[in-house]
Amino acid sequence: MSVQIIYHGHSAFTINSDGTRIVIDPFFTDNPQATRSAADVQADFILVSHGHGDHIGDTVAIAKRTGALVISNFEIVGWLSNKGLQNLHPLHIGGGNQFPFGRCKLTIAHHGSSLPDGTYGGNPGGFLLKLNNGKTIYYAGDTALTYDMKWLADDNVDVALLPIGDNFTMGPDDAIKAVKLIQPKTVIPYHYGTWPYIDTDAEAFQKHCLQETDANCVLLHTEQSFDLA
Ligand code: NI
Ligand code: MN
Repeated sequence: MSVQIIYHGHSAFTINSDGTRIVIDPFFTDNPQATRSAADVQADFILVSHGHGDHIGDTVAIAKRTGALVISNFEIVGWLSNKGLQNLHPLHIGGGNQFPFGRCKLTIAHHGSSLPDGTYGGNPGGFLLKLNNGKTIYYAGDTALTYDMKWLADDNVDVALLPIGDNFTMGPDDAIKAVKLIQPKTVIPYHYGTWPYIDTDAEAFQKHCLQETDANCVLLHTEQSFDLA
């Protein structure tokens, strides 16, 4: 069993689960924090949380080159189909499906989801991944703190990936409340420091997380990774 979570900066991650590469919100081009080119990214699956440009990012180019299956909400999958992608799987809020890597459920996010050309992108979401090797990962997407996160405590989340940048999503104080609701073993923050609007003291968040919750908190710089034992 091996699960490696690689941070690509801003909101982009690759989860490598026993060799299967699940790329989440592949924003490389114009991502100030990214150090890799979208042309070098390998993917078996691509998960898109919502339509905003800093999340749908390079999905079309990477999916066309790699043939990865793209999983997103119904409206975004329709938009990607119009862009020429064929290997697509639509989900919607509260619904999950069994994929070759495990189960993926689309979770609630309180945010917007218009696509870069102004097309309606449905409701924004997050992802709850129950990997075949037994590990559970929650990616919150861009979201406010929501009390619905309390239900995730039933899922024994190993790693919660949470936005902390404030302004467009929950900030550090609300993210601490989210950790208390979700009760994950480990927290990895993202969606901070990319632009001045979302400058956040991640080290202060880490300190508060360690002091005030039972979770470990890991800060990743671009292309750093976290291995789940
Ligand atoms: Ni957004
Ligand atoms: Mn965003």
